[in-house]
Amino acid sequence: KKSGPEIAKELACVIKKPSFIKSINIAGPYINFFVNYEKLAKNLLQKIYAEKGSYGKQNIGKNKTIVMDISSPNIAKPLGIGHLRSTVIGGSLYKIYKALGYKTISINHLGDWGTQFGKLIYAYKNWGNLKDLRKNPIKHLLFLYVKFHQEVKDNPKLDDLAREEFQKLENNDKKNLEMWKEFRRLSLEEFDKIYKILKIRFDSYNGEAFYVSKLEKALEVLKKKTETKMSEGALIVDLDDYGMPPFFAIKSNGTSSYHLRDLAAALYRFDQYKPEKLLYVVGIDQKLHFEQLFKVLDLMGMNKNRFVHVDFGMFAFKDGKMSTREGKTIALEEVLDESIKLSKKILEEKKSQIKNIDDTAKKIGIGAVIFNDLSTDRIRNVIFDWSKMLSFDGDSSVYLQYTYVRCCSILEKAKKEQKLSPEINVGFEYKSKEEIALIKQLSLFQEMIIKSAETYKPSYLANYLIDLAKVFNEFYNNCRVLSGTEKEMKNKVLLVFCVSQVIKNGLALLGIETVDKM
Ligand code: ARG
Repeated sequence: KKSGPEIAKELACVIKKPSFIKSINIAGPYINFFVNYEKLAKNLLQKIYAEKGSYGKQNIGKNKTIVMDISSPNIAKPLGIGHLRSTVIGGSLYKIYKALGYKTISINHLGDWGTQFGKLIYAYKNWGNLKDLRKNPIKHLLFLYVKFHQEVKDNPKLDDLAREEFQKLENNDKKNLEMWKEFRRLSLEEFDKIYKILKIRFDSYNGEAFYVSKLEKALEVLKKKTETKMSEGALIVDLDDYGMPPFFAIKSNGTSSYHLRDLAAALYRFDQYKPEKLLYVVGIDQKLHFEQLFKVLDLMGMNKNRFVHVDFGMFAFKDGKMSTREGKTIALEEVLDESIKLSKKILEEKKSQIKNIDDTAKKIGIGAVIFNDLSTDRIRNVIFDWSKMLSFDGDSSVYLQYTYVRCCSILEKAKKEQKLSPEINVGFEYKSKEEIALIKQLSLFQEMIIKSAETYKPSYLANYLIDLAKVFNEFYNNCRVLSGTEKEMKNKVLLVFCVSQVIKNGLALLGIETVDKM
């Protein structure tokens, strides 16, 4: 309840002046900081130059662990575009937290258990065959799944038969277990193709099935610490007081639930990794599921601030193209293929002289899909608009990759024509407003990494990079790098080098590669 000027005065006294601040003065309720740009540039550019690919790394996460549940597709179903969002957002958060010094554990919580496997096993026994399964596993499994749902309409008894098959599976029936293993193995092989393209690795593939042996213990703890009750044959935790439907531990047919498996997983992960935070990178459509789960964990006495549902919106196509027959799931592979094809076409239209056009098109195409996702605030729906995604001068990864290429060619030219390479014994006298703006923008990189981590939003970093490229292109258009005195040229060459390094490191944190030529 103090006045503005009073607060300003007090603050100004306690703020520790960083070396690049010349002076601090108070003007009424404002505190003004006067920057010594020579000092700032020197500290900053020397650090970037010295650390190169490691620039951005910090140690605020030292001795802390972050566990993240990412990707987590369902066995026997195609990897959907929602799983792409989880993989891409989670993959980037993984890199961001690692850069901040955290120990990071990524878990692919595969949907490899549940009543649907009873249906699948029933369907396979009746209508499936090994040849089709091996040839195109997901296609065949999807066919069986759809077929089951068609047949059950005329013959409701099938539901009981499927449940029996699942119960047999839960009781370790040898034949059913073998079938399930094969479905899982073959599906995972398909998923891995995409993970390879996206260069995503997981520290663990412990999916829902992994926790089956841990359900009994979880149930025991649940019963001890909360008030469970039977309701219409199911074991539940009533969450009425919190305005939520009940948490189902055991379903009325006696089988375990998705809820219970997640509860067992949470307990196991805490025990195993002792994480600072446990992130669930899962679409917003599962918001209620996680609210219920976290509430129950809270009732069990776990610190609820450690659990975070990193939720995200869905996808929409601007031109209506590429929607699939089933409507709901859009096959990821199609999207990536399309993006790579379009990138190649663009390179060809631009009469690109590069030799490795396929490789470059791949980096551009995959980068565009990733960046389109990550530059959107994750809560919002991602719009698929190819012309925007692959634009050389819009808010796209191509724009960033292109800016990086521009930096590389300036550096190459400097070396060839002026025998100048970036080095740090320069003067650091940056005077033009474009140079100053660029230094200011560069100085925000480390902070943006922290901000992205704190909010679980790589979009801050993505949009920061776009701003950096814009400021750089202002500079490029107005200040000729290879003109002026040798000292001035050296200063500018170092600046260009640092911009290229920050773009490269920033893109790497998003999971996107740069190319040297386009
Ligand atoms: N397999 C689920 C799905 O595709 C996502 C799992 C998310 N993770 C979790 N711990 N529940 O909808």
